[in-house]
Amino acid sequence: MPTHTHSLSSNRLAHSAYKKASSIRNINLTTLARSVSQWAKVPQGPPDPILGVSEAFKADSNAKKMNLGVGAYRDDKNKPYVLECVKKAEKIIFAAGQDKEYLGITGLAAYNQLAAELAYGENSSALKEGRVVTTQSLSGTGALRIGGEFLARWFNGKGGKKIYLPTPSWGNHGNIFRDSKLEVGNYRYYDKKNIGLDFAGLKEDLNNLPEESIVLLHACAHNPTGVDPTEAQWRELSDLFKAKKHVAFFDMAYQGFASGDPSKDAFAVRHFVEQGHNILLAQSFAKNLGLYGERVGLFSIVVADKEEAKRVDSQVKILVRPMYSNPPLSGPRIVKEVLGNAELKAEWHREVKLMADRIISMRSELRNHLEKTYGSQKNWSHITSQIGMFCFTGLTPEQVDRLKTEYSVYLTRDGRISIAGITSGNVKYLAEAIHNVTK
Ligand SMILES: Cc1ncc(COP(=O)(O)O)c(C=O)c1O
Repeated sequence: MPTHTHSLSSNRLAHSAYKKASSIRNINLTTLARSVSQWAKVPQGPPDPILGVSEAFKADSNAKKMNLGVGAYRDDKNKPYVLECVKKAEKIIFAAGQDKEYLGITGLAAYNQLAAELAYGENSSALKEGRVVTTQSLSGTGALRIGGEFLARWFNGKGGKKIYLPTPSWGNHGNIFRDSKLEVGNYRYYDKKNIGLDFAGLKEDLNNLPEESIVLLHACAHNPTGVDPTEAQWRELSDLFKAKKHVAFFDMAYQGFASGDPSKDAFAVRHFVEQGHNILLAQSFAKNLGLYGERVGLFSIVVADKEEAKRVDSQVKILVRPMYSNPPLSGPRIVKEVLGNAELKAEWHREVKLMADRIISMRSELRNHLEKTYGSQKNWSHITSQIGMFCFTGLTPEQVDRLKTEYSVYLTRDGRISIAGITSGNVKYLAEAIHNVTK
């Protein structure tokens, strides 16, 4: 018996030793496989600066914490907002029981037409003359990328394959255009000292560029500064572009969101086209219809005539087909339903105004608390003179760090705050925090 017991336990021992050995061998094999990975030398990339702010915010347990980093609208309860006109459009679409067939390469034609009319105006002669080539895009980012790719292939102006961005600009612009194989340059835009537009510097820089240069312009609600040229300044710029034969690439991610009036926000785009500029345009329905995750946008180019439009359209198709074949269906169906239905469109106008007005009122409450409640002696007029989702506060990176560590208020270190993240419940707290770090 004892021999049997002994042999049983020695069997177990042998088995466990075998298991251990084979697991070590497996580990070794895995390690070996890993060590010959093709990706062993891929370096760690830096985190996205804005998403990094959201991560830090999530990890903070302070009940008073505020996330002013991300540019997405929130209602006065700090909740994401699905527009009523969008909910109604979705019901109509669902009831119609439409199929899910592929769209054409350039997207849902009826949507393209309505989106282009929204930007250029229903009575736009360029649209009526068939001089606007359109392609549905993956929101504004996708539209910019298609534009970048198109310019890299086909632009032969004297200024070369280089696009000039305002300083500063939306953080993704440079990467989009560099990835499109364009060179990226800059022109002066924001005057740090006066917390406003450096119009003289801007004009000087654009005048000093080679003739026929490509220039990116934010059509309204400049991100990140919230500083836009006035209508008179846009007119001057149009003349400057004409004299220098520059090509304007407009990025219009906030139409309607800036002033509450989509036509007013499209002033620059419409004025340039009326003045004969053959512009490029990137549109997004992320903010103004709250369709962030639906990724619905439009890229368009104004060209000389119908014949040119046909050729350009053929090249846009050749460019899009190998990238993603054809765009998604749900987003443009919603936009088509809203913009193509008089009642829903009127409701959208009311809702976009409501969003813009909430932003505008948060701006004045913030300024009011800073100046009146806390008696700040600093000049905060830019909070109300800037427009759109963002306010460039003028806070230094050190002050931004103090807001984070002492008040759990999160924003990017350039001092940009997303006004959409402020509510009537926390605006006073924010004013107090800003006052304390700036006095
Ligand atoms: C200036 C600007 N352009 C383009 C976009 C693109 O946004 P989306 O791709 O979500 O439409 C944004 C978004 O924040 C923006 O601020």
